[in-house]
Amino acid sequence: MTTNIKTKIKGTGFYLPKQIRHNKDLEKMIDTNDEWIFERTGIRERRICSTEGGEWPADMAHNATLEALKNANLEPNDIDLILFASVTPDYKLPNSATILQTSLGITNNCGCLDIAAACSGFVYGLNLANGMIKTGANKNILVVASEMLSREVDWSDRGSCILFGDGCAVAIVGANDKDDDSSEILASYLGADGTGREFFDQPIGGSVNPMTIENLEKGDHYMQMRGREMFKVATRTLAKNAKRMLEAADMTYEDIDWFIPHQANVRIIETTAKLLKINLDKVVINIEKYGNTSAGTIPIAFHEAILDGRINRGDIVLFDTFGAGLTTGATLLRY
Ligand code: ACO
Repeated sequence: MTTNIKTKIKGTGFYLPKQIRHNKDLEKMIDTNDEWIFERTGIRERRICSTEGGEWPADMAHNATLEALKNANLEPNDIDLILFASVTPDYKLPNSATILQTSLGITNNCGCLDIAAACSGFVYGLNLANGMIKTGANKNILVVASEMLSREVDWSDRGSCILFGDGCAVAIVGANDKDDDSSEILASYLGADGTGREFFDQPIGGSVNPMTIENLEKGDHYMQMRGREMFKVATRTLAKNAKRMLEAADMTYEDIDWFIPHQANVRIIETTAKLLKINLDKVVINIEKYGNTSAGTIPIAFHEAILDGRINRGDIVLFDTFGAGLTTGATLLRY
C-alpha cells in the first residue's frame, strides 16, 4: 500500500562517550604518530566507551533518545517501532532495540529490530522507517545508530585501530501531516555488493567460525580491513549514490545545502566532494573529533550541525554512506 503521507525527521539527539583518546595516546600504544594519522585520515581524537557500565550501546541510545524525544515533543510511548543499527550490539540475544524499549519505559509492545548493515546502518534504518511511515503502518519510528567499536578493534593493528571510535545518535521519524510544513524525505536508496565482503570483515565469532581459545589468542576475532581497497570503492560509491538521489528528486548539486557523507577518512570525503563539484563549505565534516563511528557518523554529524545552527528547517540535506558488506545507501531530505 502506498499513500501520500510525507515523512519527516521530527527530532534528533546524540550521546558521545566521555573518554577522549587522542592520537598522542595511540603513540603510546602502537608505532604511529599524530602527524601521520591526521594527514592520512583527518582524525585527531575519538571517543571511547567506559567498560564500567553506563555507556553500553543501549545506554548511549537511551540518553540520545531522551534528547530526541524532547526535540520532537513526544513521549516514549509515542514510539511505535525501534530500528537499532549497530555492528556492536550489547548482546547477541536479546537485540539492543528491546533493551532500549525497556530502559525507555515503553509499554506499548512496539516492534524492535536490530539492523546489521555496518556503516550504512543508520541510512538503512532511516529509509526503512520512511517506507513504514508511508504505508501508514507506523506513526513515530525511532532510528538508532549506536556503536562501541572500541570492543571490536584490534588496538595492536595500526592500519585500522587509528580510524575508529564510539558514539551514538538517533532520529525520530514520523508522518508530516501539515500542509504548511515542507519537511520531507525526498528520495532514498539502499544497495549492496556482496562481492566486496573481504574488504572489511570479522570472520570469527559467527556460526561458521565460532569463537575458540585459539582464535582469541591469535586475535583473529577482531575486525579486519583492507584500507586501500575500501578507499577506492568508497569514493566511487558515494559519488554514484549522490547522482542517483539528485536524479530521483530532479535536483542539481546547487540545490544541496548540506552534504553529509559517511566519515571514514577525510580524504574520501574531499575526493567525493571534488568529484561531485560540491564546495567543502557545504560538507559537514567532524571526523577530526570522533573518527569513524560506523553507523553513528552521519546522524552524529547531522545532529551536531543542527545544534550549532548550520542546518535549519527547510534545508536540503544529502546523507550518503558505504560500509562493510559492502553495503551502501543515501537519503535526500528537506529537513
Ligand atoms: N601510523 C604510521 N604509519 C602507518 C600507519 C599508522 N597508523 N598505518 C600504516 N602506516 C604505514 C604503512 O605501513 C605504509 O608503510 P610502507 O609504505 O613503509 O609500507 C604507509 O604507512 C602507507 O600505508 P597505506 O596503507 O598505503 O596508507 P593509506 O594512505 O592507504 O592510509 C588508511 C591507510 C588510513 C587505512 C586508508 O587506506 C583508509 O582510510 N582507507 C579507507 C578505510 C575505510 O573506509 N574503512 C572503513 C569503511 S567501512 C566502515 O566505516 C565500517
